[in-house]
Amino acid sequence: MHRFQINSYPAYQKAYKRSIEEPEAFWDEIASSFVWRKKWTKTLEWDFTKPEVKWFQGGQLNITENCLDRHLEKRANQTALIFEPNNPNDAAQYFTYKALHSKVCQFANVLKANNVKKGDRVCIYMPMVPELTFAVLACARIGAVHSVVFAGFSAAALSARINDAACKVLLTADGGFRGDKITPLKSIADDALKTCPSIEKTIVLNRTNSEVIMQANQVWWHEELSKVDDNCPVEIMDAEDMLFILYTSGSTGKPKGMVHTCGGYMVYTAYTFRNVFQYRSSRAVTLGREATRAGGPDVYWCTADIGWITGHSYIVYGPLANGATTVMFEGVPSYPDYGRFWEICEKHKVNQFYTAPTAIRALAKHPINLAENYNLKHLKTLGTVGEPINDEAWNWYNDYVGKGKCPIVDTWWQTETGGIMISSLAGVTRSKATYATLPLPGIQPVLLDENGEEIVGNPAQGILAIKFPWPSIARTIYGNHERYKNVYFSAYKGKYFPGDGALRDEVGDYRITGRVDDVIIVSGHNLGTAPIENAINEHEAVVESAVVGFPHDIKGNALYAYVILYDGYTASDELLQSIRQKVADTIGPIAKPDKIQFTQGLPKTRSGKIMRRILRKIAHNDTTNLGDTSTLLNPEVVQSIIDDAI
Ligand code: WT7
Repeated sequence: MHRFQINSYPAYQKAYKRSIEEPEAFWDEIASSFVWRKKWTKTLEWDFTKPEVKWFQGGQLNITENCLDRHLEKRANQTALIFEPNNPNDAAQYFTYKALHSKVCQFANVLKANNVKKGDRVCIYMPMVPELTFAVLACARIGAVHSVVFAGFSAAALSARINDAACKVLLTADGGFRGDKITPLKSIADDALKTCPSIEKTIVLNRTNSEVIMQANQVWWHEELSKVDDNCPVEIMDAEDMLFILYTSGSTGKPKGMVHTCGGYMVYTAYTFRNVFQYRSSRAVTLGREATRAGGPDVYWCTADIGWITGHSYIVYGPLANGATTVMFEGVPSYPDYGRFWEICEKHKVNQFYTAPTAIRALAKHPINLAENYNLKHLKTLGTVGEPINDEAWNWYNDYVGKGKCPIVDTWWQTETGGIMISSLAGVTRSKATYATLPLPGIQPVLLDENGEEIVGNPAQGILAIKFPWPSIARTIYGNHERYKNVYFSAYKGKYFPGDGALRDEVGDYRITGRVDDVIIVSGHNLGTAPIENAINEHEAVVESAVVGFPHDIKGNALYAYVILYDGYTASDELLQSIRQKVADTIGPIAKPDKIQFTQGLPKTRSGKIMRRILRKIAHNDTTNLGDTSTLLNPEVVQSIIDDAI
């Protein structure tokens, strides 16, 4: 068994206890299983009031040596990366650890040849193709700081992110395939570049054979590759040197460039990957009645985009640091049809599958006979991330995909936390519908009341906060430490404040109830939007819903629900009343929405989050200034919601 694999509930309890009582000794031991060029001298130094957190100070390493080089001895010919292209008729690509190492070194040399040096920021605006992974790791290899910008963002959003970090080089592609569309990345990038004085060079990958116009200081990826070899020693980094910047949207103002550093991020993502998903490098295969042989490594697939933290931590770094086989998928769940995810699971014999509730709900809405059409027998672990998962979606995932045999890990974490914070460990600790369940070793969550006092005992409900540092906590907001302090460490003194609410049941399992900034006070009662939406979503006619508050003479606030119906249901007063009754039955009459608007869609961010800000404005009958809708996945739905507003 792997050195830090937790394989039983008592082992979890033991690890958790030790991580609280002796956090430094606990993390020392885990960190020791990595390759360091120099051992650290101080495990942890921290002060949440400054705030300042440093892990493994004095230690030196390169994360790519841990993700690539050290696997060459034992698993040079094992598949590291499986690439599944957008078009199912195109061949999948398989890269062994040896091949991946070579690709990364080669591209690292391209970066060097284009004057990229340790500490320089490199912006990556690319589709989900293998070259994106090579580029991320190539930056890390030479100590350049990558800033990946999701390839669905607009020119304005890209430019703002490039300028915030003063990136020196931009990596992009002519275009990106997504379903039956091509995103014209190069022309969007050119638009952005009109306002990006720091960019000295743009390197363009040919992915779609689109016609593009190369400008001054723009070079082709393949031409640059032809000039270099694949010999590239690693840059030796301090544990606290910057590894990457990744932008996350704030509730106000411009995006926040969260900064992650080399040592702690590596240790924590690798540790959590192995334990949460229960990834095995080898499983016994039964041959006859008693005979077994060692089987191959598990195949793990996370459907996220590398443009998000989920992709950074759990497609690239966490899996590769474990010598795992990780799948990356270029396309979308609906192309060529809604069976695509299951087709891929069958084709690559996926053992661990990690996706988002929004995808689960979309797939549930388009039922296909999974059992008849796809062989999902290799699945062992199912994961979900990104938002609270409602009962209905959880049960569908469990029954239809997992066939009741695959534990579901509901993983709560954030861009800021770098890795998974609260989650069950698949098949090792209990899994419970809609609950993230228990904190991982090293994580000390607390629930606070409105005065910031810790609520002791169970059950309890309040504001979630974390009172002790873990290795992959973001160290700052790039260029704005003051904002970092204000957003995360000022609300509750001495604690990290993630912005979520949670409840803890009798046995201590956590359920994330949603953003605390979405709380609505109705007649003096605190109502979270998430539980009301869950209740509405449980109605048999409902696909999805979003609830916001609007001003009310007597109650202070009242509730406005936007509801999407399944095909075959039509809006009627009867249906409306039965949805209200469902909420009354689930939460209480106080939570019944005053207004229900049936709609075809909800405005969503590219990461699948409902943009309640817009819905709130419409509910307030204030549609003059909806703010920036350019980052929406489906901006067109906004007008139709306005037109039908009650
Ligand atoms: C916010 C962070 C972590 C990668 C994807 C999102 C919500 C995330 C869960 C979950 C309930 C969740 C929280 C959190 N969230 N996972 N399992 N259950 N809520 O990263 O964009 O930084 O968003 O997503 O509200 O604060 P992100």
